[in-house]
Amino acid sequence: MDGTTELLGLAREIALTAGELVARRRAEGVEVAASKSSTEDIVTFADRESEALIRSLLAEARPDDGFLGEESGADAGSSGLTWVVDPIDGTVNFLYGIPHYAVSIAVVEGEPEPTTWSALAGVVVNPASGELFTATAGGGAFLGDRRIRVAPPVELSQALVGTGFGYLAEVRTEQAAVVAGLIHRVRDIRRMGTASLDLCAVACGRLNAYYERGLRPWDHAAGALIAAESGASVGGLRGAPASQAFTLAAEPTVAARLEEVLLDLVG
Ligand code: IPD
Repeated sequence: MDGTTELLGLAREIALTAGELVARRRAEGVEVAASKSSTEDIVTFADRESEALIRSLLAEARPDDGFLGEESGADAGSSGLTWVVDPIDGTVNFLYGIPHYAVSIAVVEGEPEPTTWSALAGVVVNPASGELFTATAGGGAFLGDRRIRVAPPVELSQALVGTGFGYLAEVRTEQAAVVAGLIHRVRDIRRMGTASLDLCAVACGRLNAYYERGLRPWDHAAGALIAAESGASVGGLRGAPASQAFTLAAEPTVAARLEEVLLDLVG
């Protein structure tokens, strides 16, 4: 077993353990613990518990690696590897009992910064559906045991496009204006509420494309690797890497067609 496969095995085991905890907490009833950047941007007790569990299991198995999590921040390691964790992506879906949320774990090499890191392995699990998406760098993307591929090329008018919105009212207003300029040029728009699963949806052909401005590293670390390993082009605008500034994932010709329109709309 090579090093990356071992890292994936660990990520998978821990994501499944955290997923069981999260599903149990959902069944028991969810409570908001606090709000973050705005009153809409919430954290539940289950987010914190899931991240603490993931962090302690990783610290036990890989004490020299760094950690970057949505709820408890960053810890530099000494190995050159960092685990990038979203303990519950799609927290608002989780709060409302919409069975579309995820535990997302990636391990990256280099500085824990999406524009420069190399993702080695990633896992996204939806505890409500039991779906498990995985990828290793150069090893392909999988849904369970099945290899997955991005959907074949389509004209933009035939593309089903996913997107998401930030939590700040002024950012959402700008994002809604972009959707208003795009919706009549594509098959339709989806806002499913979980960025990591949106990227996995591109990877398995459930969406032709996904884009969003404002993603944090833990929202896309694992999903972007899974999408890229499925054959999607994953990046920002104008050749930039995927980052908080912009993330666009799609089959490469669809990505190019969509980028042209988005560049007009986002300026
Ligand atoms: C959010 C979700 C959502 C996306 C937001 C993210 P969270 O993550 O992924 O789909 O549109 O940009 O912040 O807050 O549920 O972990």
